[in-house]
Amino acid sequence: MFHTELCDLLEIEFPILQGAMQGAGKPKLVAAVSEAGGLGVLPTYGEREEDLVRQIEETQALTKKPFGVNITPLGAKFTERRAAICIDMKVPVVTTGLGDPGPRAVGDLRSAGIKVIPVVPTVRHALRLEAEGADAIVASGSEAGGHVGSVATLPLLPMVIDAVKVPVVAAGGIGDARGFLAAMAMGAAGVQLGTRLICTTESAGGRWYSDAILKISEEETIVSKSLTGKTVRAFATPEVKAFEAARLSGAAEDELRRLQRIVRKGRHQDDTYEGQHQAVVGQIAGMLNDPACVKPAGEVIREIMHEAMQLTEHLSKIALK
Ligand SMILES: Cc1cc2nc3c(=O)[nH]c(=O)nc-3n(C[C@H](O)[C@H](O)[C@H](O)COP(=O)(O)O)c2cc1C
Repeated sequence: MFHTELCDLLEIEFPILQGAMQGAGKPKLVAAVSEAGGLGVLPTYGEREEDLVRQIEETQALTKKPFGVNITPLGAKFTERRAAICIDMKVPVVTTGLGDPGPRAVGDLRSAGIKVIPVVPTVRHALRLEAEGADAIVASGSEAGGHVGSVATLPLLPMVIDAVKVPVVAAGGIGDARGFLAAMAMGAAGVQLGTRLICTTESAGGRWYSDAILKISEEETIVSKSLTGKTVRAFATPEVKAFEAARLSGAAEDELRRLQRIVRKGRHQDDTYEGQHQAVVGQIAGMLNDPACVKPAGEVIREIMHEAMQLTEHLSKIALK
């Protein structure tokens, strides 16, 4: 059932990765995805080292199956320390986001037998990370929640697949079997899901997060520099929209800093959507409307695999007509 080279590389049953999700992807979700045959991935962005160690231990207690840790390369020292923790704790897979972890960290991880899978927004980054020794590449389009580049998944994916020799995983805007199959048809070795897995019973995001995803349309996300200073796709809250409007109209630095403080101050200030001035989400949120879609992550994965098989049969029938 869609057994690809990625499954062999990571020793997983289904070619589905759970993208690291700061705020939503804690050990329960990570373990649930791995238990279901995919690969759960713990985020480390914003976590203290001791929290990361505790969360790795917690995940190891919940599953004996492989899972990954995501390192956001915030400078060589930070990246190498996080890599050392993953090596010490025998984490089998490391994904990296936002930047280049550098050849040293990649080399250290690979020498310890850890598979390294960077998430990239362009062909240029994919080639660079492949040259540094990446075992696979996640090509992440601008539809995705989190840090994004400017190229959408549909054009980015085949270009990255053509450019590199290692397996390529598609991310950004994939929420069901149709997205999964489209990526596989383009030659992806698997997919990475983020936003879809916030709407699960194991998500650490909280009820307001999944409720907000169920409520918004595909037009209600925005790419903004107000959250981290880099381009992040998030809910188009009034606070984030105010920052972007000011930025685009050339507001002074002081004013931008003031608006950014408002955006950042509101983070998780209470457990309602209105209480959040910012939260990360992808455009596929517009497709998630039915409260029944909030279910265990294992069910989401099994449904995608089952429906993808049905769609494949349907496609082969109409192709042969
Ligand atoms: C709430 C949230 C938090 C995220 N945090 C991270 C992170 O810490 N590190 C990272 O590499 N990617 C992060 N991402 C990106 C995801 O790992 C994944 O690549 C992306 O969500 C896929 O696109 P989708 O949301 O359209 O499924 C985050 C995404 C979301 C929605």
